[in-house]
Amino acid sequence: MPTLIQVTADNVFALSNSRISYLMRVSPEGILEHLHFGATISNPETFNAHHKRVMRSLSPEFQDTHRYSLSDVPQEFPVFGTSDYRQPALHARNVNGNSIFDFRYRKNSILKTKPKLEGLPSARQGNSETLEIELHDDVHNVSVLLYYTIYSDYDVVTRSAKIINHSANELKLEQVFSTCLDLPQEDYEVLHFGGSWAREFGEHRNALPYGRFSIESARGTSSAQHQPFVAIIEPSTTETQGQVVATALVYSGNFSINIERNEYNDVRVLAGINPFNFAWTLKSTESFTTPEVVHVYSNQGLDSMSQTFHGFIQNNMSPERFAHEPRPSYLNTWEAAYFDITEEKVFELAKLTRSLDLEMLVVDDGWFEGRTDDRRSLGDWTPDKKRFSSGIPALAKKVKDLGLKFGIWFEPEMTNADSQLFRDHPDWILHVPNRKSSTGRNQLTLDFSRPEVVDNIFQKMDTVFSCGLIDYVKWDMNRTFTELGSAGLPANQQGEVAHRYMLGLYSLVSRLTEKYPDIFFENCASGGNRHDLGMLSYMNQSWVSDMSDPIGRLAIQNGASHIYPLSTYTSYLCPVPNHQNGRVTSMETRFNVAFFCGNRGLSMSIDDIEKDKDDIKQYIQQFKASANDAVNGAFHRLYYTQNQVCWQLSSADEKTLYIGYFVVLGEPNMKFKRAYLRNLDSDAMYKLQDSERLYSGSQLMHAGLDLPYVSVTQDALASPSRVGDEQGLQVLDGGDFVSSLLVLEKV
Ligand code: DGJ
Repeated sequence: MPTLIQVTADNVFALSNSRISYLMRVSPEGILEHLHFGATISNPETFNAHHKRVMRSLSPEFQDTHRYSLSDVPQEFPVFGTSDYRQPALHARNVNGNSIFDFRYRKNSILKTKPKLEGLPSARQGNSETLEIELHDDVHNVSVLLYYTIYSDYDVVTRSAKIINHSANELKLEQVFSTCLDLPQEDYEVLHFGGSWAREFGEHRNALPYGRFSIESARGTSSAQHQPFVAIIEPSTTETQGQVVATALVYSGNFSINIERNEYNDVRVLAGINPFNFAWTLKSTESFTTPEVVHVYSNQGLDSMSQTFHGFIQNNMSPERFAHEPRPSYLNTWEAAYFDITEEKVFELAKLTRSLDLEMLVVDDGWFEGRTDDRRSLGDWTPDKKRFSSGIPALAKKVKDLGLKFGIWFEPEMTNADSQLFRDHPDWILHVPNRKSSTGRNQLTLDFSRPEVVDNIFQKMDTVFSCGLIDYVKWDMNRTFTELGSAGLPANQQGEVAHRYMLGLYSLVSRLTEKYPDIFFENCASGGNRHDLGMLSYMNQSWVSDMSDPIGRLAIQNGASHIYPLSTYTSYLCPVPNHQNGRVTSMETRFNVAFFCGNRGLSMSIDDIEKDKDDIKQYIQQFKASANDAVNGAFHRLYYTQNQVCWQLSSADEKTLYIGYFVVLGEPNMKFKRAYLRNLDSDAMYKLQDSERLYSGSQLMHAGLDLPYVSVTQDALASPSRVGDEQGLQVLDGGDFVSSLLVLEKV
């Protein structure tokens, strides 16, 4: 591996691979200044800082320096109150009660091994080098260690920070961001994603305003409302061109991403734990580690940014054991039967699962004592003896004897007032004294900031897992935090609860995944309420949304694909009318959308399955035949408009191209439409399946592939479906929610 980090004699730090560079320097005053994050700078020793030392009225000069005001200097870890008025990376209260700190450069070291973050998930070493820089405040004897990791094979720089209190006094941390990126003075747009339950990952792209713009969560989860991700882009950016600087947090709890454009058009991006409702006491000799962030740079638009995230996440973040393994096709009991499950019914579904040639049965919510609706028993995790009289291990064994894998649902972080756990330990929930706790879905949140609570849940899950018959666990989480407080912490540490909860959650997840490396874990939080790089560092996939209607899912899957590889999300064929939005779609469209997910399955009642059994069987064969490609192929968004969507999945061996084309509402006399495919072999020929059409790779990329024509005239409706015109162009029966999966094979 080539050397990735260079430190020049003048203390310019250059982290470079053959495509990107991240440059910083130490100013004569000892301030760690930001110089560049973008395309590779080949001679960092000649890099000329752009900063100008000018007299600016109303901008104070930093301490005893001349014409040097931090208010316009790009910095790596700025503080407030010493001439910079922008939001700081660190804000803390010292022993004197003020918040003035002054961190100057002390030393650096290049680490060949990427340090793990204490109690927090982080990207693996891969082909990387790490730079550690120490900044120090002499008055309060506090150090900040900044970590930067650059990879040779991905256009990624990861960052995190560690605050160490070397003094004898206590320090109160009020705001500690993981990163500060001070960008050049350009016009930018901000791209980010969010929505709500069953409509996660809505795409939002706006001009960056003068002032501040922030996205955040104070709900205890990273949230469906805002993805912990932002991309700062040139206004002209498209899928295939434009500069993009993206930031994704490796954290699953309260976060904040703040972007500020000040009077000089300087743009500052801060990302990390949400400072709102956060306060952390750092006692003498203690340290505080921030979550990691992943920064991606691309000068070739959003597709290239996504390819970087996809490869990086799959190879350096997703648990290695299953990162590249084709997922088993499955039947999940949730939309098939909800809480109406018994041992007999599950076994019936298992036999049906087998006869459909699926590979796994997942028993969703409802298998434990008294759980016939959502009002009780979370936290007890004892199988219901009345409805599952032989017990879970025996059922698992029977299911596995059919040749299937066996999966089971848990919601480990929750309890109900009507549960033995809560009766025994009423103070084990997040709550505050003398106030009633609000509920969500009749649930109370267990206080995972307390190690004894985490231990208790570990023991209960361990008991179920230890039968050795569980292949798959769906880990759910169905409410957000209220009355945030812990009976385990004194009054002056209540500001620590939300982050301590995350540390407790991560410790439980890592204990279980380490003890049971062969269990495949799926992350879920009412769908995508916690679909983030934190959870995905322990679990290979997420139930990306409770929206199972294919048309409702188009925006969700399209949005998610900007950051997350297909291997990280799950889908299933749903019943119609759809249970979330009442829409009726064809089985073909349900299949075509589900196809573009890493893991595919089915969740429909026995009666519904029987009605369409032959079609379903045939679609399951296609799921299975493409299972490797869904996990290891390359996904591209060819275009996305409100009414039409087109996606490309290139197979892992690059020989097969799957083109999904979706039309939401039928239009009379539709325009002809082409899709310009990406990343093909220019000289190779590709044959469109079920036709005689041959295209060269260069034609498909530069002149485009003709997409089917959707006809809504009576004439077309009267003609047999799937009849092409004389050139073999597909004509689809008109109407709404029509789709097609075109397959091209390299010849
Ligand atoms: C919410 C999940 O998103 C659903 O898929 C299902 O598992 C239910 N919880 C079960 O309670």
